[in-house]
Order: sequence, then C-alpha cells, then structure tokens
Amino acid sequence: MIERMVQSDSPDDDIQEQELEITLRPRDFANYIGQERLVRNLKLAIAAAKKRGEPVDHVLLYGPPGLGKTTTASVIAHEMGANIRITSGPAIERAGDLASLLTNLKDGDILFIDEIHRLHRSVEEVLYSAMEDFKLDIMLGKGPSARSLRLDLPKFTLIGATTRTGALAAPLRDRFGLQHRLEFYTRAEIAQIIMRAASILKVKISQEAAEYLAERARLTPRIANRLLKRVRDYADVNGDGIIDQNITNQALALLEIDALGLDPADRRVLEVVIEHYDGGPVGLDTIAALTGDERTTIEDFYEPYMMQIGLLERTPRGRKVTSRAYSHLLGSRATPNSHDKSTRAKNVLSEKNTSGEEKPSASATKVTRPKDKEVPRNPSSGKKRDDKQKRLI
Ligand code: ADE
Repeated sequence: MIERMVQSDSPDDDIQEQELEITLRPRDFANYIGQERLVRNLKLAIAAAKKRGEPVDHVLLYGPPGLGKTTTASVIAHEMGANIRITSGPAIERAGDLASLLTNLKDGDILFIDEIHRLHRSVEEVLYSAMEDFKLDIMLGKGPSARSLRLDLPKFTLIGATTRTGALAAPLRDRFGLQHRLEFYTRAEIAQIIMRAASILKVKISQEAAEYLAERARLTPRIANRLLKRVRDYADVNGDGIIDQNITNQALALLEIDALGLDPADRRVLEVVIEHYDGGPVGLDTIAALTGDERTTIEDFYEPYMMQIGLLERTPRGRKVTSRAYSHLLGSRATPNSHDKSTRAKNVLSEKNTSGEEKPSASATKVTRPKDKEVPRNPSSGKKRDDKQKRLI
C-alpha cells in the first residue's frame, strides 16, 4: 500500500499529470527498464533481507530529478511486500513531526523521504538513533529539569532521495547501508520506456517516432512520458491520434524542443554564458542572476543533462560552454576561443533573438564582462523562477 503524505499545492492540471505519471511507473523489477547496476544491487539486498526475515538496509538514492528515485522506492516496497509512507524533507518541519511518523510505522514498513537534504538539522538528528538502533530519543521538559526518554521503534527501512548528496550531513549519509546514484538512461532505454508508456496509455506510436522522441527526452523517463503526452495531444487534434515521426516533429517544433531535447530555458543558460562571458568560465550565481533562476534550479535541473551530453563543463573558475554547444546553437562548427567565431556566435544568437524577443545585435553592443557580484539579480523580470516553473513541459 502506498500512503502519500506530501501535501501538494499544485493546480488540478499538475495533479492530473502527477497521477498519470504514477500510472506509468513500473511497480516491480520485471517491468523496470534500465539502471542495471542499481537493480542488480537492490535485488541482492532484497533477496538477502527476505531470507533473513529482516527489513532491507536503509537506502540513499541520489541523482538528477526525473530518473526514478520515487519509482525505485516504490518498487523496493513492492518487492519486499512492505507498506511505504511517502513524505519529503520540507514537509517535516519539527522533530515532533518526524517522531509521530516514526512511531506510527510497523515492523518492515518503508519510510520514503524525498529531498532529504532539505530536512532541518534538528529533525535530522532524531533520525540518527532511529536509523541506527531503532530508538527514538525525545527530550521532556526544558532547562535543568529536562530529561530524555528512549522509545523503541519498529524495524523500518528509510529510503532517502536527494538530487545532491553533497548537501547531506556526513553522519546522516553514513547511516545508509546502500547508497546508489541513478544514472541517465540510454536512448534505447528511453525508447523502450516510451513504447511501454504508450501501450499503458493505449496510444499508437511507431517505433521510429518513439526513437525520435527518445532523442529529445533528455535521457530522462519523466520527460519522455511528458513529451509523449504532449505529442499525443497534438496527434489527437491535428491528426488521427496515431503518432508518427512527422507528427512528433511538428509537436516538438511547437514546444520549441530542439534536436538535443533542449527547450528555450536550457538554451538561455548557454546563451547568457556566450553573450555575456564569451562562453565562460563564469560562476553559477552569475548565470542564475542572468537567467533569473535560482542557483539550485540551474544546478539540479538544467546543467546535469547539458554536462552529460557535453554542452557545458565545470571548471575550477566556473561553468564553461563547450565547442559542441556552440556548434549546436549555431548549427555549424565554431570554436569558442576564436574571436571571430565567438563574435559570430553572439551575432547569430542576437539575430535569432530578433525573431522572438527584441535584442540588439552583439556587434552593435559593447559586450562587457561584469564582475560576478555586479550582475543584476534578474535583468528580465525581477522575479526568480523557482523549481516549479522550471520547464515548459
Ligand atoms: N517509467 C518511468 N521510469 C521507468 C523505468 N525505469 N522503467 C519502465 N518504465 C518507467
């Protein structure tokens, strides 16, 4: 049984999308595509735990969003025949909230904490003895008369998920016996996931269209499934409901998703580095100020995929756009460090901008290199985009 405890403040559409996403998730390893190393290790840990009649060790899943951390937690619960309670770091505000969650668990239950890096330190500390000894230490009273009480907890499994292990305190991280990174999927795996989702949704899609879509899904199942739904909408309205490569191409053009799966917001990250910093290196805070995003949005959502496919690189002096990114944005080979090519890149970007938003040509603009701190927080709107507004799809 899955008990969802995360409060959602999203509008109806978002809830519908989330529900649909849940129906597309595999429930067991038999239907789980990809992440072979992770699956092999989890199968072993689950088989061993079952043989001993114990709960599986605590599991930490980390990696970029959309790769299936929640899905994996639900699959572990299903394979263990266990109940799972799902919550998130920010939803647990006080140590008392966590104490009540823990004392309501039963032997063998799984507690899934998404965004575990966002737990308050005081809450996190309660987890230490809970994870290690299945004990809950609570303080009664305050000041000199305060005393601590130790309660027994059921033998549960904690599954923590995070986009960033670095943000997790070492004592918490070290208490997870199993720690696994979810990797980007291959294009072939994403195509398989699309075919599987299409059959669940009863959508007719050609293998060719699934492969075409897979190339634009940023190696991420969540994006693949969302794109599939958008292309299905397009096929229903503009065709006979059947998704072929032509329909897919038209739908993606409407969404402004390019051949590498980048949307305008991704391209904007590359463009600001080129336009303002000749391709970099430039600090993350500066990029965030220029695009109007939170730093963490760029770190967690935009850059992992762009780094994975070699468009952006991390250097000791900041982020740098690669020659592949120039080629991609220009549609031809260009070398970032050559003055001519760099100027050409800026000009092309400016010309491109004139068709959408008004922007002066780079050749007519003095391109200066402001210091990191001097860049306005958000030159476009004065309001930062947060994680929820991160994507067009
Ligand atoms: N849908 C989302 N993630 C999936 C996966 N790993 N395997 C199959 N279907 C999925």
